[in-house]
Amino acid sequence: MTPWQLAAIYPADIKTIIEIEQRSFSRPWNPKSFLGELACKQAYSYLAKCSNGQEKEKIIGYIFFRLIEQKLHILKIAVTPNWRCRGVASGLVDQCVEQALKLGAKSAFLEVRPSNESAITFYRKQGFRIMGRKPNYYADTREDALVLIKNLKEEV
Ligand SMILES: CC(C)(COP(=O)(O)OP(=O)(O)OC[C@H]1O[C@@H](n2cnc3c(N)ncnc32)[C@H](O)[C@@H]1OP(=O)(O)O)[C@@H](O)C(=O)NCCC(=O)NCCS
Repeated sequence: MTPWQLAAIYPADIKTIIEIEQRSFSRPWNPKSFLGELACKQAYSYLAKCSNGQEKEKIIGYIFFRLIEQKLHILKIAVTPNWRCRGVASGLVDQCVEQALKLGAKSAFLEVRPSNESAITFYRKQGFRIMGRKPNYYADTREDALVLIKNLKEEV
């Protein structure tokens, strides 16, 4: 059994999610952005909670995604620093893809900063490949976004 489990996200979880968010991103989302996703009909989300003795029930990661016209769009994924490289994000993506397939998704895509090498390595391992760039996508640095895609039909 893994030392963590997946669960639904409720508004009361957003405070802890924000703590992880602020440790994970140079331009973190604010509570309003997360609450907006929870209220959006096309949006889905999961969190990972550790389930071992001492840290029981502590939130350690989360994923937010949308399904638009049979395309899964991963908007946000993060794992708290001391739980990284233990398969948590892989579990979150697997769950997200499973749900998207049930809802009829045929492909998945996301944007990532070219400077975020660990995330790019992670997504490549998940089977994503670089499809293109969105110029000046990130307002803080004017950095382009890399667009990564994955064909989900291979998953079935
Ligand atoms: C990217 C992120 C979500 C990965 O989470 P994670 O739980 O550590 O990922 P996993 O343990 O499931 O990693 C699976 C694979 O991804 C790759 N990977 C993950 N972190 C890596 C790192 N820091 N450096 C290199 N490869 C990495 C490895 O290939 C790893 O496989 P391995 O364990 O067999 O070597 C996490 O580093 C994070 O929260 N980063 C900050 C937020 C972020 O950048 N989100 C993505 C924005 S687009």
